[in-house]
Amino acid sequence: MKGLSCSFLITFLLSLTLSSAGTLARDVSKRAIPAGSLQRVNSFGSNPSGTQMYIYVPKNLASKPGIIVAIHYCTGTAEAYYSFTPYAQQAEQYGFIVIYPQSPYSGTCWDVSSEATLIHNGGGDSNSIANMVTWTIGQYNADTSKVFVTGTSSGAMMTNVMAATYPELFAAGTVYSGVGAGCFYSSSNQVDAWNSSCAQGHIISTPAVWAGIAKNMYPGYSGSRPRMQIYHGSADTALYPQNYYETCKQWAGVFGYNYDSPVSMLPSTPSPNYQTTNWGPNLQGIYVTGVGHTVPVNGTQDMEWFGFTAALWGQCGGKGWTGPTVCAGGYTCTFGNEWYSQCL
Ligand SMILES: *[C@@H]1O[C@H](CO)[C@@H](O)[C@H](O)[C@H]1NC(C)=O
Ligand SMILES: *[C@@H]1O[C@H](CO)[C@@H](O)[C@H](O)[C@H]1NC(C)=O
Repeated sequence: MKGLSCSFLITFLLSLTLSSAGTLARDVSKRAIPAGSLQRVNSFGSNPSGTQMYIYVPKNLASKPGIIVAIHYCTGTAEAYYSFTPYAQQAEQYGFIVIYPQSPYSGTCWDVSSEATLIHNGGGDSNSIANMVTWTIGQYNADTSKVFVTGTSSGAMMTNVMAATYPELFAAGTVYSGVGAGCFYSSSNQVDAWNSSCAQGHIISTPAVWAGIAKNMYPGYSGSRPRMQIYHGSADTALYPQNYYETCKQWAGVFGYNYDSPVSMLPSTPSPNYQTTNWGPNLQGIYVTGVGHTVPVNGTQDMEWFGFTAALWGQCGGKGWTGPTVCAGGYTCTFGNEWYSQCL
């Protein structure tokens, strides 16, 4: 008798909880994350590699916000990368959310070497980070066409891995001093392994081979892929500059561009010592003479690449215009006629 009423009570309480959970869960977790400061998210769904999730939700949150995933370097943390990069301040300006994943390994490099992380839904770090993105899209009704990934050094390697393993999630990526996706592969299937041959620039291959490696990270996928922007310094002795060329080969191969004949090579762009190479609308390389490990983050350029701002002198408004409506650094969106406004 006692057992019966007890189990009845439990069933009753459980059904109460369940019936309200659907409507409450969303509001509660949203309210639980204060805007305007870096916050840890303890539960974002399946987290196979035990990666930690931090988030910055701006006070000025857009109604259908974009998302930037910003991935730290070795020895870094979510908080360090939050301080090191301008994305949180820019989030207040443009209304997007920033996700800062944090590596679960001692030394806090990312796992860009194991089979688990180098394949779509393989249960590695890439899988955990993808789940953070999916959770955030659901919680904040985010704009799935404005989800981006960026990182520095080990985080840049991870950016290439995310672009290859979860191409369907991201519209664009920016890589600050990394290596191509799969270059750090561990022949003994070690998690979080260092690969000296790759780091020292000895892994040299063709665009076709590199593209095959990237495409095999999500076999059978034929949808859209993120536009990629690759930065590297000529004096990098941690991840040798050869990795710049190999990474550009990889994405040129993926997009079907002829690596050997880029569309344009622009010296002193965007600033002295920077050379910008365009292979097509989906791939831009920026090689920086005299800069070592790592190339500093250029937040203004990132906002342009991700499409939160129009390039200087770009269109920013007009009838039927669906592109960016905010201009980069100091420029004003100026009315020309009803069909055309321009950053001036
Ligand atoms: C380093 O990576 C390359 C692929 O880029 C691979 O062939 C090689 O076996 C890796 N080295 C080790 C020690 O795993
Ligand atoms: C960053 O990008 C902006 C916009 O392209 C450019 O004006 C600026 O010179 C860049 N800064 C550096 C250090 O390259």
